[in-house]
Amino acid sequence: MSIAIKAENLTRRFGKFTAVNSISLEVAQGEVFGFLGANGAGKTTAIRMFCGLLAPTEGQAWVSGISVAHFPRAVKKVIGYMSQKFSLYDELRVEENLDFFAGVYNLSKQDANQRKEEVLAQFGLQDVRRRITGSLPLGWKQRLALASALIHNPRILFLDEPTGGVDPIARRNFWETIHNLAAKGVTIFVTTHYMDEAEYCHRISIMDQGVIAAIGSPQELKAQYGKSTIQEVFVHLIKGSQIESHFGLPGIGSTSY
Ligand SMILES: Nc1ncnc2c1ncn2[C@@H]1O[C@H](COP(=O)(O)OP(=O)(O)O)[C@@H](O)[C@H]1O
Ligand SMILES: [Mg+2]
Repeated sequence: MSIAIKAENLTRRFGKFTAVNSISLEVAQGEVFGFLGANGAGKTTAIRMFCGLLAPTEGQAWVSGISVAHFPRAVKKVIGYMSQKFSLYDELRVEENLDFFAGVYNLSKQDANQRKEEVLAQFGLQDVRRRITGSLPLGWKQRLALASALIHNPRILFLDEPTGGVDPIARRNFWETIHNLAAKGVTIFVTTHYMDEAEYCHRISIMDQGVIAAIGSPQELKAQYGKSTIQEVFVHLIKGSQIESHFGLPGIGSTSY
């Protein structure tokens, strides 16, 4: 099985504060890996290091076998990244956003047009292609953000809280889409603070204050800690840590930025 994503003692400090504290993990090609943690746990900081957007203080990351520190531009070509704040242009039309991302990834005119039609169809966006993005409901924007992240057909997809703020039905549909992509061999690395979404992942890690507190399949972790839900495993793991008083229970607090 080939390794799509690997971290070895990946660490990021901001001044004296350690946001990501020596995390190590491996994600296989085609796996749906859930990167769970409460708000402020360090999920976005970690994902930005994997995507070559933020330099680690210590440790290393590889994506598709490519060292992120040494070849950040090569990494950006093989990944799709959907940031926590969807990086769409509100004032552009739906299809203009797709044109924009096709340009960022240097697709030829022909490839750009072909991929645009494919993702518009794949995400049911054909009827809104001429709509101004800012006028769309959040669930539609989420689908457009995902379509944009996939315009260059990446084999590895990083999604940072893609379901934040969207309604339960849109969340459910979104996870179906994720599984369809994984079935085609796309590796999915997805952060969430909704513990119930753990069940949709092949494997998960649970992060607490910059540290990976547990890693395994949802079934393995529930068995290991003798709990019936990942929510209970999470509460068990963070018991005694300061995080509840700082950030509220997972899934309830608002995102930090
Ligand atoms: N650029 C930065 N400068 C200083 N602190 C930061 C910066 N980015 C993130 N942090 C801090 O690092 C911690 C982890 O943040 P983040 O990775 O965004 O967590 P999450 O995505 O899990 O909510 C938080 O305490 C946050 O305030
Ligand atoms: Mg975040």
